[in-house]
Amino acid sequence: MVVIGHRGASAYAPEHTFAAWDLALELGADYLEQDLQMTKDGVLVVLHDDSLDRTTGGAFRGRVIDSHLAEIRDCDIGSWFNDARPARADPRFAYQRIATLDEVFARYAGRACFYVETKNPEEAPGMEEALLSLLDTHGLRAPAALEWRVLIQSFSESSLRKIHTMDPSLPLIRLLDGRFAARRSIERDLATIAEYAVGIGPSHLDVNGRLVEAAARHCLSVHPYTVNDPAVMRRMIDAGVDGMFTDAPDLLLALRPPEEPRGRSATAAAAQRYRDCRG
Ligand code: G3P
Ligand code: CA
Repeated sequence: MVVIGHRGASAYAPEHTFAAWDLALELGADYLEQDLQMTKDGVLVVLHDDSLDRTTGGAFRGRVIDSHLAEIRDCDIGSWFNDARPARADPRFAYQRIATLDEVFARYAGRACFYVETKNPEEAPGMEEALLSLLDTHGLRAPAALEWRVLIQSFSESSLRKIHTMDPSLPLIRLLDGRFAARRSIERDLATIAEYAVGIGPSHLDVNGRLVEAAARHCLSVHPYTVNDPAVMRRMIDAGVDGMFTDAPDLLLALRPPEEPRGRSATAAAAQRYRDCRG
């Protein structure tokens, strides 16, 4: 089971900041998650929303895709967390700034694995090419393909199919929303996903044993989002999932048996299981 630090350890530090990723790594998460947005000048930055309204507390309004990197890079994206979570507030969070994906790869490559999401890719033509170019710049393409040290996720089938066409060796995760598990067409839909992806990311609300078993028939890993309650984590483990997104990696790590592989060993083992399954 892999532990994915959702936006970093975002229960304890402002999401998608070095503070949150540093903490997730320190706690022992196997993957650090990054949601991608693209600036007007074509730079990939890490931010969940397509605007800065929420994470600057309204200090900067406007969409990332309409802004140049120079206009947004000095925005304070940490203070909102101190206001929203006073029990977890830290004055150092006020110094957190938007990170480019290039900076994230430079800081953590070699000591962390990445779980990168193409967000709003239809509005940001070139996002996929820019991502693959950065994988090359940081020597991550082969480790992604061989040992799943980078997983690329999206709700957009077309974005994932585009990446698959550019490089079929890259491991892709299809995110799912709505009620997928209850569909009568689940086998056919999973077979379609297995044409380009190695796994699915459903909402934890949609996970049951039937879904996990059906995914396994197509060699697909199951990584539900976003699980922060230990009772739900336990339910996911019992259902047989292969990993989880969580804002609180320490809570999930406390449930992982100590003999299970961690970090790169865990991601490499998952890659090998996939190859064995696909024959
Ligand atoms: O990427 C998995 C999960 O993060 C999807 O939800 O909205 O947090 O990106 P969101
Ligand atoms: Ca995400």
